[in-house]
Order: sequence, then C-alpha cells, then structure tokens
Amino acid sequence: MTRNRILTGHRPTGPRHLGHLVGTLENWVRLQDTHECFFLVADLHVLTTNHTHPERLQDHILNLMADWLAVGVDPSRATIVLQSIIPEHAQLSLLLSMLTSVARLERIPAYKEQIKELSLQPSLGLLTYPVLQAADILLYKAMEVPVGEDQLPHIELARETARRFNQTFGETFPEPEALLSHAPRLPGIDNRTMHTSYGNAIFLRDSEEQTARKVIGMYTDPTRIHTTDPGHVEGNPVFVYHEIFNPSADEVDEFKERYRQGSIGDVEVKQRLVEVLNGYLRPYRERRRKFIANPHALLEVLFSGTVKAKFIAQQTLEGVYEKMGLLHSQTFSEKVLANNIAGIF
Ligand code: TRP
Repeated sequence: MTRNRILTGHRPTGPRHLGHLVGTLENWVRLQDTHECFFLVADLHVLTTNHTHPERLQDHILNLMADWLAVGVDPSRATIVLQSIIPEHAQLSLLLSMLTSVARLERIPAYKEQIKELSLQPSLGLLTYPVLQAADILLYKAMEVPVGEDQLPHIELARETARRFNQTFGETFPEPEALLSHAPRLPGIDNRTMHTSYGNAIFLRDSEEQTARKVIGMYTDPTRIHTTDPGHVEGNPVFVYHEIFNPSADEVDEFKERYRQGSIGDVEVKQRLVEVLNGYLRPYRERRRKFIANPHALLEVLFSGTVKAKFIAQQTLEGVYEKMGLLHSQTFSEKVLANNIAGIF
C-alpha cells in the first residue's frame, strides 16, 4: 500500500506547550500510522521575525526535538528534517518567488498582522515567508499538509504556486491539500489562546510544581466572588481543561453541577486539575528528560532524517532546474566531461 505523503512543521521558537500537544502533535503521532510523514524543523522561518538571538536558536531546535520525540514522533517511521541544512529549500523558494507577485504576498493575513506589530519596516524575508513555506511542501511533493486554521492562506498560496508552475513548465507538483486540525483551541491560563509569547502557557518541560502554580493562578469565573456564589462553567478555562484532560467524565459532570450551585470552591476544582494535568503530562515529561539529557542522540535523529530528505529534495530541484531552463550540477558536469563546454555558453 502506498501511503500519501504529508509534510508539516514547526518553527523552533521555544518549548512546546499543551496547546501544541492537543492541537497538533497528538494528531501528527496518529498520522504516522496512515501516512508517510515529513516533519520539518523550520529554522529559516524563525529568522523572518527574530534573527537577533542566534545563540538561542540551537537550543530551541534541541528542545523542539526533545518535545516532539517525547510525545511520540517516531524517527523510525517519520522523517524529521532540519530546513536550513538542505539548501534546496532556499533555492526552490527563490525559483518559486519568480512566479509570485508582491501584491499577492502583501495580501496574506499573517503578513498584514505581523507588520502591524513590528516597530521596524518588514523585511523582504518576512514578505516571502509563504513562498519558503510553499517550497518546503513542494520540494517533497507532499499531497497533504496538516495545519491549523491560521495556516490556510499559506497552503492556498502553495496550491496556487504549484498550479502556476505546472501550467507554465509542465506537470511537476501535486496540489497540496490542507488537512485541517479539528482540535479545539486550548485557552491559556489567562483565557486568551495559549501562546508561547503571551506568558500564559503550560509547557511540557514545566515541573509538576510549576504546573501547580500556573493552574492555581488560572483565570476562572470573574463574576464569582464567594465559593457559595453560583458559578459559570461555559467559557471557564478550568472546566475546558477538565473536559479535555480529566479521564472521569462523571467527576467532571459532578464538578460542573456543584460549581453551578455554588457548593464547590475554585481551589478544589483546580487542585484536582493539577493532579489530572500532571498525570497526563508525566509520561511525556519522563521521556523528554531522557531525550534532552542526550543532545548527541537528538542531533543524530535530526541528521539521519535530513540525509534522507536531502536525497528527495535534490531530485526535485534538478527537475525544476531543467524545466526552468537552468543547468543543474549533474548536467553541467556531464557536459563538461563530454567536452562540450562551448555548446553551453
Ligand atoms: N508556518 C508554519 C507555522 O508557523 C511552520 C511551517 C514552515 C510549515 N514550513 C511549513 C507548516 C510547511 C506546514 C508546512 O506553524
């Protein structure tokens, strides 16, 4: 049975949190059973918004790897790729940028949001972020791309680019489909979406004590002043978490009922949530500790995946060079060997 190839990735921006776990990583782990998986460490993409802390990047990459492997990304079944080690990503991005208008890129929602937040002029690299992402996908001729909703405009651009390339130069790339994750967006401890840069995340690498402190300080129902006040369960992150992570649906129902009646305090519901979350995270954390203690092994996993990916990337790029009328290195050396240099120039 041939399995559809998927490619997806994360930018190594910091440790993974619960939102990554329930939103994406658990889905990736399942996809390993049904798809040929490529998981990309998109370190070049990090530089589009943050290139001023080079010393942190290596550390983020190792931590990302440790988190991925801890939750069950399995290098014996999936290919883990470090983007910057394979120059074909940058090369294909350059070639695809010839097929993409500046105006089209300026309309991408993530770009428009980013430039509102930046104090600087946006870089050319930020504008072409989605072109590099299209190159990531098309380089491996991936059929499906598991992503969250925020990435859909980027996948749409990759599809358009594949279509345009095929129309101009002949059938080359499959049009990749987004595989939309239907996992609920996890709220952070302040009830905004969980996000590394908001300071509201519970991380895989947090200790049990750190987790407890975060949960005890979590946002609940702001209208409830006394334990005996009837409380609101809907939109209350403490209950959102219980629903997702508490293995006992009966207990959750009972908590809800008593919370609504005003016969259980926030502290009790939160203390139980601490146990539930730490129980859920414990096996991941144990595995993570082992992986992070052995950075050599992590690098080895990264390099062996990257070697395999490099082979595919090179073949794709050679095909693209040829179709676009360029000489790739193999043809070039064949011509040189055949003493046919005059014919080239
Ligand atoms: N832009 C993606 C994100 O921020 C990361 C990414 C880079 C990616 N290249 C990709 C995702 C290719 C899917 C496919 O989450």
